[in-house]
Amino acid sequence: MLFTPLALGPCTVENRVWLPAMVTWLSNEAGEVTPDVTARYTRYARGRPGMIVLEAMGVRDVGSGPLLRISHDRYLPGLRGLVREMREAGGPETRVVPQIIDFLKIARRDPERALARLEVRYPGCSAWDEARLQATLTPREWRDYAFGYRQQVEDLALDEIEALPGHFAAAAARARAAGFDGVELHFAHAYTMSSFLSATNARTDAYGGSLENRLRLPLAVIAAARRAVGADFALGLRMLGSDDVPGGTTVDEAATIAVAFARAGVDFVSVSRGGRFEDAVRPRVGAAAYPYTGPSGLQCMPTREFPEGTNLALPRTLRAAVRAAGFTTPVVGAGRINTVDVAERALQAGDLDLVGMARGLLADPDWPLKARGALADPIRSCKYTNACEALDRAHKPVRCQLWWKLGDHPPG
Ligand SMILES: Cc1cc2nc3c(=O)[nH]c(=O)nc-3n(C[C@H](O)[C@H](O)[C@H](O)COP(=O)(O)O)c2cc1C
Repeated sequence: MLFTPLALGPCTVENRVWLPAMVTWLSNEAGEVTPDVTARYTRYARGRPGMIVLEAMGVRDVGSGPLLRISHDRYLPGLRGLVREMREAGGPETRVVPQIIDFLKIARRDPERALARLEVRYPGCSAWDEARLQATLTPREWRDYAFGYRQQVEDLALDEIEALPGHFAAAAARARAAGFDGVELHFAHAYTMSSFLSATNARTDAYGGSLENRLRLPLAVIAAARRAVGADFALGLRMLGSDDVPGGTTVDEAATIAVAFARAGVDFVSVSRGGRFEDAVRPRVGAAAYPYTGPSGLQCMPTREFPEGTNLALPRTLRAAVRAAGFTTPVVGAGRINTVDVAERALQAGDLDLVGMARGLLADPDWPLKARGALADPIRSCKYTNACEALDRAHKPVRCQLWWKLGDHPPG
């Protein structure tokens, strides 16, 4: 099944190998497509996976360091050029969609500044030890002091929430104008939309609390994006099959959410896991919290200590619920899948319809060609040490330790 085509609504992929979004840190401060971004993605295209999801791109036109953006029409020429070069490199079957994201504000940990602010409410607190601070401050004050300020969905004003569907819709329209084959809404991990969906969302208005309320904004985003791109453009999303943090969304609730998204007419559902801020480790002074440092982060990017295909139960459960509700929406899964055998068995078992392989394709972008026998060389297999993730954490260009001495991009 791995090398059979599949329709994602109006977009057909030639095989079931799916490259999930992986931030490269190869853009520039302006969030533009650079020659390095193009080199990385044309290299992936030459390996001929069925689908390439481009790393998360911001929908709001705010500075976010060297992360790609799709937040203004000025990005269109660069994105158009990237799509064109990928198709030239990979051929007419190349399928590529950008992952589009909104994220909330986060600050670096700065105890001196935090204490100066807290002095207003707690005079003398600058001299307290951490035990006293933790015992006295509200949980939120303690967190902002100990980890650095982080905006939460509970902090957003109604007008900020109501602007989000328009931001996503405009970005989705740009994805279409740039010549992509579709667009993936980022509803997973530690970011805005995932945090609205999460059972941890403690808003007390129409956007928090009950599942119906938590679905309100994500469904509005889907509806607005669909209106912007039309029915003949693939519109999918990535969501969490489980938050993996205390009080977070469980797989059973995620299955209900996936059914709601299928009913809303998305063309694919990509299932990820964890990667939340709630259990992230405390950053050092001067650094910002990173949502892949705690147990939920490890579930998101499982290391070699985990069994192969460790997260397959999640797409299996969500897919079964979607099918039971009468929808044929294709489901993508990921997490330490790197052999034809595991991929094929998961497809045959109905765990998923498309096999996500992020670090495996970073290690060897020719994996699809080699796995189907079009290239004779052995596969350069990912060792799952998370050396690439450590670079991401340090905001450095992401590479694989199996080839990084050879240059900036996968060889071959
Ligand atoms: C360096 C790095 C960057 C990532 N960036 C993103 C991202 O931008 N968006 C996203 O949804 N997932 C991101 N992920 C998660 C991957 O898409 C994937 O879900 C995860 O690595 C598990 O799949 P794997 O075992 O095949 O690598 C990233 C993972 C890594 C290692």
